Amino acid sequence: MSRKPIISGNWKMNLNHWEAIQTVQKLHYSLPKEVYRDVDVSVHPPFTDIRSVQTVIESDELELQLGAQHCHWEEKGAFTGEISPLFLAKLDVKLVVCGHSERRDLFGETDEMVNKKVKAIFKHGMTPIMCCGESLEEREAGETEAKVLGQVVAGLDKVKADQVASMVIAYEPIWAIGTGKTATSEDAQAVCKAIRGAVAAKYDAETAAEVRIQYGGSVKASTAEDLMAQPDIDGALVGGASLDPEEFSRIVQFA
Ligand code: G3P
Repeated sequence: MSRKPIISGNWKMNLNHWEAIQTVQKLHYSLPKEVYRDVDVSVHPPFTDIRSVQTVIESDELELQLGAQHCHWEEKGAFTGEISPLFLAKLDVKLVVCGHSERRDLFGETDEMVNKKVKAIFKHGMTPIMCCGESLEEREAGETEAKVLGQVVAGLDKVKADQVASMVIAYEPIWAIGTGKTATSEDAQAVCKAIRGAVAAKYDAETAAEVRIQYGGSVKASTAEDLMAQPDIDGALVGGASLDPEEFSRIVQFA
């Protein structure tokens, strides 16, 4: 079973809408067009930039996929400051990150909320990138798999097998995010293999073989090649390095 790699750039709260346009255009010129035949590439700008990026993608007919960094699970209503999946889909967003550790830690997102978001993202024709990951304390206590697999199983509650086969799960050890400390390829592979095993146990071998699993956490061009060579790693969710089009395009070309 060959899975098409996917490299996603999570810009977090960086780049205004002018900088976003420049960054997407620089990325376009640094990526050979044929790359998209072999790798899916998505960028996830701040909400204020989504319309600008969508306009560039549309007008320049870029194969870059537009993503978002999170969304609410309701379509409309009294949710001040929240973002509707319905409205993201109207802006041609294709992929939505959900359950990022920064949302879980800073904004109290629970496994139950993440599960609702996964279902809402699918309901509006988009693809979830569902995040999971352990803290340094949990890793040092030998609780990595218990934490990560617990998040995965809870996040997939009542999600259909064919939906899971089409989505992305991103393993992002919290202690590697923004720290410059990338997990070793061996450690990342071991957890991604365990995630795939949990999907096989919850669904079946075919679904597990199809779901794409990204690694995220201080991915750089210097670490990407070895990570992408791992059998259960199908791509990367890149933060800081995705703000530099040259570095991000080097990472994409290792996928
Ligand atoms: O979602 C990706 C992000 O959490 C990783 O950030 O800066 O460690 O690549 P960074």
